[in-house]
Amino acid sequence: DVELSLSRSMLNSSDKTIQKNGASIFHRSVEGWKINSSLVLEIRKNILRFLDAERDVSVVKSSFKPGDVIHYVLDRRRTLNISQDLHSLLPEVSPMKNRRFKTCAVVGNSGILLDSECGKEIDNHDFVIRCNLAPVVEFAADVGTKSDFITMNPSVVQRAFGGFRNESDREKFVHRLSMLNDSVLWIPAFMVKGGEKHVEWVNALILKNKLKVRTAYPSLRLIHAVRGYWLTNKVHIKRPSTGLLMYTLTTRFCDEIHLYGFWPFPKDLYGKPVKYHYYDDLKYRYFSNASPHRMPLEFKTLHMLHNQGALKLTTGKCV
Ligand code: CTP
Repeated sequence: DVELSLSRSMLNSSDKTIQKNGASIFHRSVEGWKINSSLVLEIRKNILRFLDAERDVSVVKSSFKPGDVIHYVLDRRRTLNISQDLHSLLPEVSPMKNRRFKTCAVVGNSGILLDSECGKEIDNHDFVIRCNLAPVVEFAADVGTKSDFITMNPSVVQRAFGGFRNESDREKFVHRLSMLNDSVLWIPAFMVKGGEKHVEWVNALILKNKLKVRTAYPSLRLIHAVRGYWLTNKVHIKRPSTGLLMYTLTTRFCDEIHLYGFWPFPKDLYGKPVKYHYYDDLKYRYFSNASPHRMPLEFKTLHMLHNQGALKLTTGKCV
């Protein structure tokens, strides 16, 4: 069973034989890939039963007034105050309203992108989505630079910008955002308590520096709706990863979705080590209970959708 042996090889990277077979099967499946437009439409329709990306991608100004108190989505006992700054950065209308594209790239952050030479191909898509403010300039040949939509978990402030402790950290951050021009910056600010300080600092820097970036803050129902859709399809995820969230949202406005940088495994199909992120030294946390995500299961699902022509998953070289 091709499907089974391939997923087994991915989950058990020490089995050399299965790995070899898996690698050739996988590469063949990339070469012969063809879009299945009726399946794409069916998936879009089914996801629309749970969420509408146009609406759920961001709350809008009219949903709140400054001083409103909301409950965190995944931590209902804790609350957050909608500050003046946050309110002023909420979009008037959804940043994705009426936006439709032929092809989109959703770029995950796996080290599998290193040496992929996928930069040009990624940048050729009509709309490019990236995750967690991942750096691009130094990796342009492999990941490209175009970023129409980029996510930023509040933890990124700590992880990649020194918690804004020094002026130079803040400058680096402002510089990174200024490169985005008027792209969408998507900040999941209402998920769990802990990042509110960071979100406030980010908001203040955007306002102070009059950055053009278009801020968006996912709706309070988005994560439950996305989980609901996948659970209904028997994909038992505790909490969808950013990458899976982005694929799910993108089905609303893209006819052809191409995924890059999705590879939640420490080795490639030939047994060569793969970094967790292409740009830092973060380790594979999902082997412990520390990570809320089930990325290998998500990957298996995405790979199955690739085989059915619903999306294209690139995990090898682009040239
Ligand atoms: N990803 C992957 N394989 C990896 C790393 C990331 O498939 N080795 C995909 C996942 O879908 C992930 C996305 O790329 O969601 C972006 O990576 P990252 O920024 O690490 O994702 P988060 O889900 O935001 O992770 P966390 O919640 O742990 O910060």
